[in-house]
Amino acid sequence: MNNKVAVIGAGNVGATAALYLAQKEMGDVVLVDIVEGMPQGKALDLMEAGPVLGYSTQVVGTNSFADIEGADVVVITSGLARVPGMTRLDLLKKNAAIIKSVVENISKYAPGSFIIMVTNPVDVMTYHALKKSGFKRERVFGQAGVLDGSRFACFIADAIGVSMQDVRAMVLGGHGDSMVPLPRYTTVNGVAVSELIEKDKLEKIIERTRKAGGEIVSLLKTGSAYYSPAASSVHMVEAVLKDKKSFLSASVCLRGEYGLEDVCVGVPVKVGQGGIEEIIELELSDEERAALHASAAVYKKSIDEL
Ligand code: NAI
Ligand code: 2OP
Repeated sequence: MNNKVAVIGAGNVGATAALYLAQKEMGDVVLVDIVEGMPQGKALDLMEAGPVLGYSTQVVGTNSFADIEGADVVVITSGLARVPGMTRLDLLKKNAAIIKSVVENISKYAPGSFIIMVTNPVDVMTYHALKKSGFKRERVFGQAGVLDGSRFACFIADAIGVSMQDVRAMVLGGHGDSMVPLPRYTTVNGVAVSELIEKDKLEKIIERTRKAGGEIVSLLKTGSAYYSPAASSVHMVEAVLKDKKSFLSASVCLRGEYGLEDVCVGVPVKVGQGGIEEIIELELSDEERAALHASAAVYKKSIDEL
């Protein structure tokens, strides 16, 4: 039997994720949205692209959560996106209500699934979904570190003038201005990035990475990034469905790891068919650890507000 991936929210991120999932033939795709006709129209359009793009993935669009029944993985992108002047935390209360109702439906129709949270503020929504679902923490995790690492890698590659594929970058912490890019654990095919870029320039790249989501919001003016967020989310779906044992940064609920308790933020994890199979505790310098704790404190405060 085919794998089944449900994508909740057929907006920019959700529909783009559905396209990448279809192209990768990761399993049957179900695209759910509350707007009548929209997910059905996008699903049909994606099916009609199959003969040209060379995939035979079944994509179904629906307004009914009953159609996610039996899904192996559910990617949640439903909710509001940022517009200029709005922080991710501004989205908190509105999106929390949406996530609550979505998670109730996941618990009802796909109780054995893995949940990959994308909706912002993603670290808080991951925590919220974890609590509302009652799922084990291995099965509820947030996408941000893959995206933030990809952005960091993209800027580094551009600065050095090397292939983006040769840069491996690690970003921890929450998905916001307090995120913690880790140059010490970032390499160009094994060569420490600090060997290749001067300190000042690297600092500027780190700052740009922290603000990279906002940079796109201010260019688009009507929403936020979606190609790279969708690609990052599908990367995580693939890690689960193909049992890849991928080493990546994901937002998970920490229970003592890194000295943090009952808060979701990005940390390095191993992702495979068991979801979060391991949380990897890196040796952090005092400065890095303080930055991670400061970031976690921001999200802990939002959790308390909820
Ligand atoms: P969008 O506005 O294009 O799409 C959101 C969709 O969710 C809309 O089609 C809306 O009708 C739908 N929706 C709302 N309530 C729903 C419900 N109860 N059930 C099903 N669908 C529902 O927004 P976009 O650009 O796709 O972003 C989605 C979310 O992802 C936002 O919260 C955004 O901030 C977040 N995001 C997170 C990233 C990350 O790295 N974690 C990166 C990019 C976006
Ligand atoms: C991003 O980083 C808005 O979280 C979204 O692009």
